[in-house]
Amino acid sequence: MTRATNIVILTGAGISAESGIATFRGPGGLWEGHRVEDVCTPEALARDPVLVHRFYDLRRAALATVVPNPAHDALARLDAAWPGELLIVTQNVDDLHERAGAKRLLHMHGELRSALCASCGDQSRWEGSLAPRTSCPVCGAAALRPDIVFFGEMPYRMEVIEAAIARAHIFVSIGTSGAVYPAAGFVQTARWHGAETLELNLEPSAGSHLFDESRTGPASVLVPAWVDAMLAAVA
Ligand code: APR
Repeated sequence: MTRATNIVILTGAGISAESGIATFRGPGGLWEGHRVEDVCTPEALARDPVLVHRFYDLRRAALATVVPNPAHDALARLDAAWPGELLIVTQNVDDLHERAGAKRLLHMHGELRSALCASCGDQSRWEGSLAPRTSCPVCGAAALRPDIVFFGEMPYRMEVIEAAIARAHIFVSIGTSGAVYPAAGFVQTARWHGAETLELNLEPSAGSHLFDESRTGPASVLVPAWVDAMLAAVA
């Protein structure tokens, strides 16, 4: 490990589980009986906008009831202190990484606290509820939708993410089931570019065999321990 070591960290719902946000595919991963795939598609939004907006309104409101846990705190500490390149790529639409203080962060699947105008593409900070046909503050079209990357849509900032992975010496995946692409394929890209790969997850995931090392346990324990070891190596 040197001070010029570049790190890419991919996080998923598992890192926020101990803050009280339900994961998608574990127990409790259904919302009022809906599979996430049934409410997170452009077709679902067109078919039943009231349902889809209510789904995201409830999840946005629930952010006020949760706080970052030691895993978010540890990554923010690493971000602040790491001398090399570092990028946290989260699939999560909550804001717990930034509330913990992380700065070098990308939300590849969008953000609950953002609204996207389907007409002009503007992205506005959004705190309250977002009823169907809410007007865009920029162009006025009644076309605001949750700024969430639905199934079948292209995740955000893929070119930035792929460039960071190509430069990474270490790739770490935290709290993700490895079920959703393209994020599930980042480990193979990182390996192809020569990175060491590490998985930190509660249980073996669909992609565990793709990592050089896979550690199982709660993120609130595994992540601070890994961060402490990384920072000790460059102290
Ligand atoms: N610590 C570490 N890992 C945990 C914890 C915990 N406390 N609790 C659960 N996990 C693990 C689970 O074992 C599971 O492997 O986190 C993973 C969560 O997997 P998913 O629910 O599938 O979430 P994620 O991988 O983030 O989903 C990817 O799917 O629905 C879409 O767009 C949505 O971003 C999401 C994407």
